[in-house]
Amino acid sequence: MYAPAQASPTTQAPADRGQRKTIDLLGKIGQIDGHWLPHVVAEMNDYQFKVVKIEGDFVWHQHADTDETFIVLEGELRLDFRDGAVLVRAGEMAIVPKGVEHKPYAAREVKMMLIEPRGVVNTGDVGGERTAPNDVWI
Ligand code: NI
Repeated sequence: MYAPAQASPTTQAPADRGQRKTIDLLGKIGQIDGHWLPHVVAEMNDYQFKVVKIEGDFVWHQHADTDETFIVLEGELRLDFRDGAVLVRAGEMAIVPKGVEHKPYAAREVKMMLIEPRGVVNTGDVGGERTAPNDVWI
């Protein structure tokens, strides 16, 4: 079935919620203007698949109510924890347990996918200026 490409990010979820079609994850990331701005590409039940590109350092935060999955598509992500760090390379994934403080870091640009329940805020419990709008589809 033909479906026209979305011209720009929108807060209006598509009727198909990204289902019954293939999704070009890197192509979607290529449409994002800026770093640290997750965009939703699909939903499964009450979970969202988000793509994002990041570079540099983020803020320490935690998500009290949910685990958070990172799947790296390009580059090398460092997930900092208070007691160490985990390197996640392209083709690898890592899960941050709920309630565990973490800080993503990318020495060079990283393109990745996040999987988390609808409504999760990127800065978790700390909020602030790095908080990205939620439910922006691309
Ligand atoms: Ni987080």
